[in-house]
Amino acid sequence: MPATVGELLDGAEAQIKASEAIELWRPYMARLEAASLLGFVIGHDPEDAGEVVPAAAHRRFDALIARRITGEPAALIIGTTSFRGLELRTRAGVFIPRSSSESLAGEAVRRLRRRKRPVAVDVATGSGPVALAVGSEVPAARVFGVDISPPALSLARANAKRLHIPNVTFLRSDVLSALPKDLAHGVDVFTVHPPYVARSMMSDLPAEIREFEPETSLTDQSEDGLGLVRALVDQAPRWIRTGGWMLVEVSPDLSRRVGALLRRNGYRDVKSHKDSLGATRVIAGRR
Ligand SMILES: C[S@@+](CC[C@H](N)C(=O)[O-])C[C@H]1O[C@@H](n2cnc3c(N)ncnc32)[C@H](O)[C@@H]1O
Repeated sequence: MPATVGELLDGAEAQIKASEAIELWRPYMARLEAASLLGFVIGHDPEDAGEVVPAAAHRRFDALIARRITGEPAALIIGTTSFRGLELRTRAGVFIPRSSSESLAGEAVRRLRRRKRPVAVDVATGSGPVALAVGSEVPAARVFGVDISPPALSLARANAKRLHIPNVTFLRSDVLSALPKDLAHGVDVFTVHPPYVARSMMSDLPAEIREFEPETSLTDQSEDGLGLVRALVDQAPRWIRTGGWMLVEVSPDLSRRVGALLRRNGYRDVKSHKDSLGATRVIAGRR
């Protein structure tokens, strides 16, 4: 008997929920993941539960679910992910953009739109989601994305080219070491979604993160997870404009420490913003 969309989704949802390699942010994510993998296989959103799925598509779907329950993220299996309406390519060896970082980009966009010829720098840019969203939503801005990982930068550049976003430049840089000199005291907004997992917490991560994301995208090997943020705050005074903003995305448990670090370093109006899922916080401070 050929299976229906509803039957396949029920089975896949149960398998994803039962997998020890996966830590679901919310239980409903299992159904959403199953639906996006089935949609990928059948070529359209699986909205009709009674739709019959041909045998070849059924076999392909089972193979994808078998990969997923080992921990392989759905975004890597599909090869793309969506970020503030942009379709970004994903690749093994490069951090997968999270929807929780959409708020970080939004906070930057809001501040940049008020300024003339604004400049934004996204530190630890990865495949470039925040830099590309800012570049596409604020076309008047000059945007730079910096990262130490060559594979991440090559994917970020490919994403910019495919999406025709011309105002974003990606540079290989250890924190701010390779920023162009003409940006001195000219940066309106810094954004950073750093590798903030403390070294001692790495073994607690679920397999889908520990085994499928590059280690340097998860931890800077510091004891508290804030080594890269401290380096950025140390280096920023030479680059940030008076009245410019530092926006830092971290897990909720780190937000007070980041706020205190910003205040100690002369930032005012320090505030913590929740992302829409409540998964992370963006701490904003003005220099
Ligand atoms: C959590 S990922 C965030 C990537 C991207 N912002 C995103 O949200 O998808 C952290 C990134 O920091 C980069 N990174 C680690 N150490 C760095 C350093 N010293 N300087 C610049 N980037 C660094 C990693 O290569 C990785 O791409």
